[in-house]
Amino acid sequence: MAKMWDARFSKEENSRVNDFTSSIRFDSRMFREDIAGSIAHATMLGQCGVIDPAEADRIVEGLRGILADLESGALEIDPAAEDIHMFVEEVLTNRIGDTGKRLHTARSRNDQVALDVRLYLRREIDEIRALLKPLLTAQMLLRDDGRLKEIRKHTNISPLGSGALASTTYPIDRMLTAELLGMDGVTENSMDGVSDRDFLAELIFALSLIMTHLSRFSEEIILWCSGEFAFVELDDAFSTGSSIMPQKKNPDIAELVRGKTGRVYGDLTAILTVLKGIPLAYNKDMQEDKEAAFDAIDTAKLCIELFAAMIGTMTVRRERLRQAASGGFINATDCADYLVKKGLPFRDAYRVSGRLVAYCIEHGATLETLPLDTYREFSPLFDEDVYDAVDLDNCVNRRTVYGGPSAESVKRQIGLVRRAVSDPD
Ligand code: ARG
Repeated sequence: MAKMWDARFSKEENSRVNDFTSSIRFDSRMFREDIAGSIAHATMLGQCGVIDPAEADRIVEGLRGILADLESGALEIDPAAEDIHMFVEEVLTNRIGDTGKRLHTARSRNDQVALDVRLYLRREIDEIRALLKPLLTAQMLLRDDGRLKEIRKHTNISPLGSGALASTTYPIDRMLTAELLGMDGVTENSMDGVSDRDFLAELIFALSLIMTHLSRFSEEIILWCSGEFAFVELDDAFSTGSSIMPQKKNPDIAELVRGKTGRVYGDLTAILTVLKGIPLAYNKDMQEDKEAAFDAIDTAKLCIELFAAMIGTMTVRRERLRQAASGGFINATDCADYLVKKGLPFRDAYRVSGRLVAYCIEHGATLETLPLDTYREFSPLFDEDVYDAVDLDNCVNRRTVYGGPSAESVKRQIGLVRRAVSDPD
């Protein structure tokens, strides 16, 4: 294919060089954003009188046609094109003739790609937030959602008009293109505008933290559904069998989510490392931003979706949990607190309770069922009401402290989460 910069270059580009520098393989997924950006740009050029308004209309019409054909499959993306920006412009010029060549007036691919990436990430952020909804009943993920909401604001700023790095001499209206694209403002400095990828690194970081949270949760699930714990059971549709052990039901989704977390961290390391050595302004290194971002987005979206579905169909075995709770002497502190209320200093009460636990372990007993006479051998302060003090439900429900585990406090927390989820931003 003839190159756009043939005028300046005397030799044909080596095909290996073309393969190496091309980004069409991964940036073609931004075709909608590229076309939307170009439509806004052409509209602005027409309104500002930089190009003839009638020609602007033809460009917009041509771009709409390309979008429709790409959506329907009537037009295929040429894998030999250098990138999505060159591809769209070339098809446009093939379709509408010389007018198509006016689209790139007052624009560089540097501000164009910076815009496309922002628009693309904006859409993905909205999709990721929608996928997260069913998981927002956990505080960690609620914070993740808040982070995404903030990052969307940093992302939704238009760099268009920054040009290659030094803007342009044409009387363009940057605010107008931003407005046409539903963006909240424009970047303040043209050199920064083309080289800022903070929003993209922030998104990969936010996705890394989401993965951290899902991975921690996965670790619990894997443990809880093991035969030894058996606290939860995964739905058959969300577990897999073993090829050799017929009894096995593997928590593969949880294990894969835990595993894929490493991959998203890799994307974060990649983007930070790419950015750390780049002087102002745009440098071709930055083309590497997209594969890292797209991989992190694709991976996190898949994980969020499947994890939510897995949790949604998981059954919790309450009797097993209660049984496990009673075996662990988690009421030993309550037993000590009981003695404190009867006047014993906490350190002494702690020792009495410790000796009681040791006795129970030796005799296969629990604090809930130990006879009062036995209790009294350890301290004369024990009375009938000790059973009330060590009752597991009471132990939980007495913890009414703000943020604590009592039913009352948990209901309050659920209410807060519900309100946050239903808050339309
Ligand atoms: N394909 C390029 C990218 O993804 C577009 C920008 C090209 N600009 C340049 N100066 N080579 O970053």
